[in-house]
Order: sequence, then C-alpha cells, then structure tokens
Amino acid sequence: QTFFRQIELAAPPSPTKRHTKISVVGAGNVGMAIAQTILTQDVADELVLIDAKPEKLRGEMLDLQHAAAFLPRTKIQASVDYALTVGSDLCIVTAGARQIPGESRLNLLQRNVTLFRSIIPPLARYSPETILLIVSNPVDVLTYVAWKLSGFPSNRVIGSGTNLDSSRFRFLIADHLDVNAQDVQAFIVGEHGDSSVALWSSISVAGVPVLSFLEKQQIAYEKVTLQNIHKEVIDSAYEVISLKGYTSWAIGYSVANLARSILRDQRKIHPVSVVANGFYGIEGGDVFLSLPAQLGRGGVLGVANVHLTDEEAHQLRDSAKTILEVQNQLGI
Ligand code: NAI
Ligand code: LAC
Repeated sequence: QTFFRQIELAAPPSPTKRHTKISVVGAGNVGMAIAQTILTQDVADELVLIDAKPEKLRGEMLDLQHAAAFLPRTKIQASVDYALTVGSDLCIVTAGARQIPGESRLNLLQRNVTLFRSIIPPLARYSPETILLIVSNPVDVLTYVAWKLSGFPSNRVIGSGTNLDSSRFRFLIADHLDVNAQDVQAFIVGEHGDSSVALWSSISVAGVPVLSFLEKQQIAYEKVTLQNIHKEVIDSAYEVISLKGYTSWAIGYSVANLARSILRDQRKIHPVSVVANGFYGIEGGDVFLSLPAQLGRGGVLGVANVHLTDEEAHQLRDSAKTILEVQNQLGI
C-alpha cells in the first residue's frame, strides 16, 4: 500500500526536463561553498561529493541532507569511490592544496598536478561525456593538465578562470560609481592571478561605456583610480586569505553560476579559462587562459570577439607567456 492512493495515469508524462547530475571533487571550503550554492539555486537534480576523507564527506553530506526541508529536492550522495560519479553531466574539481597567506597560486602547481593524475582519469572513465569544470589552483595550468589527462575535446574542459576576478572587478567599479554590480558589464581576462588583464575599453554601466558614463555623471576619475581598482582585484585573494585563511563564498557563487549557464544551456558569455592560442596573437603552444566565452550544454560554444586595445592584447600575450613557461616544465 503506497502512501498515496494511485490514480490511473493515461500515460506517464514525457520527461520534459533532463535529469542533471553534478559531481564535486574536493569537499573542502570551496567544494562545499559550491555545493551549497548549487543546492540553494536548484542547479541540479543530483549532487555527488567526492573527497579523500570519508568521515568529513559523510558529515558534509548529512549536514546538507538535513536542510532538505528548506531546499529544492536534490539527491545528495558522497563517497571516496569515483564510481559514484558515473554519468555526471558536470564534474567540478576543487580538490587540492590551497595557498597559505602570502603564497602565490603558481606555487601549488606540483602538488596539485600529482593529485590530478589520480582524480581526472577516473572522472573521465565513469563519465566520458561529462564537462570538466576546474577550480583548483593554479586553475589555468590545471585546466590544461585536466584537458591532457582526460583526452576530452577542449570545449568540454573549462577553468573557472577570471569569472571570479571579474565579479570582484564589477563589485569594486559598482562601489566606486554607487550602482548595482549587476548593471556593470566588465571583464578581467588572462591568468586567474597576478598577471590578469582588465579590459577597461569594454566596461559599461547599463550599456553606457564607463568612461563616458563617468564624464556624464561628472564623477572625477583618472587612470590611476581605474588602475588601483584592478590592483585591488589582484590583491583580493591575498587579503581574504590573510584574514580568514581561504576564500570560499565568492568562488562558490561564481562556479554555481557557471554550472547553471552550462547545464541550463543559458548561452551566456563568461570570462573562463579556455584554449586561448590563436586569439589576440597568443602563440607558442596550447595554453588555457580566460577569455569571454559563450557557455551552454555543450560546454564552450565559442569565444566572443571582444575589442582589445593594443595594450590589453599585449598584456594578454604576456599572461600567456607566464602560463606557458610554467606549463612547459610539466612534461605533460
Ligand atoms: P581545502 O583544503 O579546504 O579543500 C581541499 C579538499 O581537497 C580537502 O577536503 C581534501 O581532503 C581534498 N582532497 C585532497 N586530495 C584529494 C584527492 N586525491 N581526491 C579527492 N579530494 C582530495 O581547500 P579549499 O580552500 O577548498 O581550496 C581548494 C582549491 O581551490 C585550492 O587549490 C584553492 O587554491 C582553489 N581555489 C580556487 C579558486 C579559483 O578562483 N579558481 C578560488 C578559491 C580556491
Ligand atoms: C581566489 C584564489 C584563492 O581568487 O584563487 O580566491
């Protein structure tokens, strides 16, 4: 006797919405912030947590399950066994070492490449059609490593890149102009890190190019103010890490936003880490850097052809050189 009295169905309703499954590898500060935001924003039907620490995993799973009365229904599971990720539509990788105060992201490379050698192949084996979304740092090089280790086409291997930096950039510009950050369109591109590039020439507020917006509003500005905002973006992670030991909330929202664009086929343009050689004169080898890319159910659908000034394109090429120098030492 089932709980509900069965009613005769003329025909079972055809599934209008595809069942979506996300696996998050790494149930630490970042992985759990991403997981929590995915649940709150109803991005997936099924969420799997993978980590190397079974007790922490079970604790995080139970703690999220206990919130079920306040959340859209999502099946939540956790395991140290990658078999649980089978058939994932999206695999988000946050596992790995994080910076200690003052440490650069590039300094994490060797430790996290070693981890990736044990993480990426099983993900690819259990979900050969999945999209890999890499978050672990240094994210641009590790996205390249994930691409090589998975053997996937490059449109299905994406780094969270400067989606987070651009959010910080939009916040600081909005704060400076006293407007809503969602009305500020602004891109940081290149490396997610110290050599990122601010695209000043394409910033707009409610569709109005920022430089003319400032003139119209008689808001005094000079180039140094704008440069200071970009420096504040670059310093953001170091400051937060020195204060709370890690960053998590902003990256949680950033990656859940990317997951929604991909799984709900939003075809939105995000600054994320994609194969950049061939764009803006970038050459010298396969390198992942953030460019404004259109994201949908197939992963990267295309790269937007935004205008870069000669200076911005030059900085982007320098960012690519930084990444390639590090990457070429890996032998992958
Ligand atoms: P955390 O130390 O809190 O979590 C890392 C988790 O990875 C731990 O739970 C650990 O058990 C797990 N792990 C380690 N080896 C594993 C393996 N072989 N398989 C599965 N899980 C494994 O660190 P946190 O703060 O979550 O940061 C994680 C990574 O995310 C770091 O590399 C950090 O730099 C990066 N990050 C990237 C951002 C971005 O914008 N791309 C922003 C913030 C953090
Ligand atoms: C950040 C670092 C941790 O930008 O990648 O938050």
